[in-house]
Amino acid sequence: MLSRLDLQKMKREDEQITMITAYDYPSAKLAEEAGIDMILVGDSLGMVMLGYDSTVKVTVQDMIHHAKAVKRGAKNTFIVVDMPFMSYHVSLEASLLNAQQIFQETDAQAVKVEGASEEVLLLVQRLTDAGIPVVAHLGLTPQSVNVLGGYKVQGKDKNTGAKLLNDAKQLVAHGAISLVLECVPKELAEIVTNSVSIPTIGIGAGVECDGQVLVYHDILKYGVDRLPKFVKPYADFNKVGKQAIESYISNVKDRTFPLDEHSFKIKNKDLLPNNS
Ligand code: KIV
Ligand code: NA
Repeated sequence: MLSRLDLQKMKREDEQITMITAYDYPSAKLAEEAGIDMILVGDSLGMVMLGYDSTVKVTVQDMIHHAKAVKRGAKNTFIVVDMPFMSYHVSLEASLLNAQQIFQETDAQAVKVEGASEEVLLLVQRLTDAGIPVVAHLGLTPQSVNVLGGYKVQGKDKNTGAKLLNDAKQLVAHGAISLVLECVPKELAEIVTNSVSIPTIGIGAGVECDGQVLVYHDILKYGVDRLPKFVKPYADFNKVGKQAIESYISNVKDRTFPLDEHSFKIKNKDLLPNNS
């Protein structure tokens, strides 16, 4: 498994870091077998796995349930688990306990939090001091979608760009080990990447980040209909999967499944009960 220091080294040596989300045993297993560097158990599971229309319904228990399955499928991969909506905003004490529970119960390598408010910075520091590595997340922060007013590109003007850069530096100063940049102009992501010592992982943030992350179901076109501009799909599981299920249905209907090769047989018919 890669360590925090390996990721740091990859940034220094200009080797791209690959990250994908995973939410259950098979997705984690496939990602690890393919050779991914890091897995994110994202709270995007609320949308792609549970069918909610945003991430704000996801709970700490949801995250733990899914992250444990991911860990079983990818024992040798660096796993980051999202702290879900409001689980780190009620009080510092409650936030620490939620992070502790997620970290201890899932055996993950790090937790991830969105934003860089005073309370988030303090939490990053306290978790780091306690031995829980924290990945930060700036730009489009989906847990704040209702405040931001939609899923839009962030940091497009001088003020918001400067704030994002300053937030990134603050997060580094408070101990963050890596920074996800979501939906920011590539030029801004490049400046941030060159200004911080920790690896940046982009999603809709251009090619100059130190690594890239995408959502499992988006890459594979699996259960999702519309893809954001920043996604490149690499397969069409929807199409292949639907065709397979249609074939199964028609085989059952016309009794071409199951065949003898799928069936168990008894050699001695005398052993069968009498139908009387
Ligand atoms: O939840 C998630 O999938 C994420 C990525 C989009 C970075 O936070
Ligand atoms: Na997330």
